[in-house]
Amino acid sequence: MGITIQDIQKKKREGKRISMLTSYDFPFAQIVDEAGIDIILVGDSLGVVVQGRENTLSVTMDEMIYHTMMVSRGVKNSLIIGDMPFMSYQAGIEDAVRNAGRFLKEGGAAAVKLEGGSNVADVITAISRAGIPVMGHIGLTPQSVHSMGGFKVQGKGAEGAERLVSDAKAVENAGAFSVLLEGIPMELARRVTQELSIPTVGIGAGPFCDGQVIVLHDLLGLFDRFVPKFVRRYAELKKVSIDAIRRYREDVESGKFPSEEESYK
Ligand code: KIV
Repeated sequence: MGITIQDIQKKKREGKRISMLTSYDFPFAQIVDEAGIDIILVGDSLGVVVQGRENTLSVTMDEMIYHTMMVSRGVKNSLIIGDMPFMSYQAGIEDAVRNAGRFLKEGGAAAVKLEGGSNVADVITAISRAGIPVMGHIGLTPQSVHSMGGFKVQGKGAEGAERLVSDAKAVENAGAFSVLLEGIPMELARRVTQELSIPTVGIGAGPFCDGQVIVLHDLLGLFDRFVPKFVRRYAELKKVSIDAIRRYREDVESGKFPSEEESYK
């Protein structure tokens, strides 16, 4: 068995940072796993960075299961979390539990993540009671892009901050094993991290969370349609790939590829 929920929670107790990254297919899941990342999230961000859509709303359960299956074939150690897509848990509790179960049964994930605070507390409780660990997700919740009026930083001002803290506590009390904090001021993330006993993992939430997550295609420089302020690029794989492919094309066109050594006799 690789990394467990208990290992993740222990990291918070011991003051150790949690690393989390997204992956959507076999080769990248293998790479992320081999690099020693604690948690791999099969995020519904695949709608944007893999499918090329404007937002995550149209991603389906079947698509999420397909990607989770590919990821789990590449992973030996990281904890895999499947991201519940829009309308897979909002329409009813039974539906939510059944869809969450598919991530474990068909996808090979160990846990699920879903967006929302006190409004989804009953869903988190029902899924957790079914033996499926849940990571909450509060703050900027991309599936609510239309009700938020765009992808905007949340929890600003005293009232916004109190609402966010109360959502964080609702998620913890509902039975979530951890909570993702997205797009909130860093001092608010620090407060939530101090007040909760479950680990917080931040994205665009500053340095004081128990862990950090970003989208793999952002980290590797594969996605450049827009680059949020919180992204740090550790590689420029799009540029490297274009260069490699261009050299291949030139070799084909000039007859340099394949050589005799690369051919059968
Ligand atoms: O879908 C996703 O990739 C996410 C990010 C916040 C990491 O939820």
